[in-house]
Amino acid sequence: MIEAVCVQGRGVDMDRARRLAEKFGTEVTDKIPDDKHAMYFLFDKTGLSFIAGKQELKGDLSRMLKRVTGGHLAHEIILKAAKQNTEAEQGTLRAVDCTAGLGEDSFLLAAGGYQVELFEHNPVTAALLHDALIRARKNPEMQEIAKRMTLREGDSKELLASLTYEPDLIYLDPMFPEKKKSAETKKKLQVLHKIETPCADENELIQAAIDAKPKKIVIKRPPEGPYLAGMTPTYSVTRKAVRFDCIVFS
Ligand SMILES: C[S@@+](CC[C@H](N)C(=O)[O-])C[C@H]1O[C@@H](n2cnc3c(N)ncnc32)[C@H](O)[C@@H]1O
Repeated sequence: MIEAVCVQGRGVDMDRARRLAEKFGTEVTDKIPDDKHAMYFLFDKTGLSFIAGKQELKGDLSRMLKRVTGGHLAHEIILKAAKQNTEAEQGTLRAVDCTAGLGEDSFLLAAGGYQVELFEHNPVTAALLHDALIRARKNPEMQEIAKRMTLREGDSKELLASLTYEPDLIYLDPMFPEKKKSAETKKKLQVLHKIETPCADENELIQAAIDAKPKKIVIKRPPEGPYLAGMTPTYSVTRKAVRFDCIVFS
């Protein structure tokens, strides 16, 4: 399915390119595939991208910077939803993002002071997220936040069962159909739909989250969407484009 890892220009970590090619059972090459529908990784000095025909997907946490600086972070609804009952020192709260995607929501949680473990089961998405985190850790404006983010590739149901601590927060954002999408979201979703399917295991996922004994579970939903797995939350935080269902255990 993935034709190649194409390396363009200088400054690319060739060991990483080779490991990626080995993982996906393909070759490292400097030639872009001729087939206009080809799916391949492109690795250049700006980082790693996944190309599917004319579309490109790349993890880029730098575009989140404007949301976490200049006093904007306090307005992030995800942090209002994630708020804990107890005051805790910055960096001592632990969150698990079971549907990490390209890490944008996790970045907000980490900026809000959480140590975040990011679980992602799709190998293409995980590769792009891994690359975005490497770049963020090298960026002086982002490294403090990115240092609080740790990626584990795999199925959250299994990874949750292997946790050695009880998290303060478990965050779930399974894919949902949006009514109005921006052009950028539409483009991103087209590529994502080529490599993954909407969440088919919501009952098991939420049960695994409960079994991990968190203080709180926060679930991102569309404003009018049904509750995940039909589970009524303790309360919801709703805005025009999004709803966060919060299930509180203590
Ligand atoms: C809507 S996206 C999440 C976007 C993310 N909140 C962000 O800010 O970028 C859902 C992600 O969850 C992942 N996912 C779904 N079910 C999963 C599971 N059981 N274990 C790990 N990852 C899962 C999908 O592969 C997808 O990347």
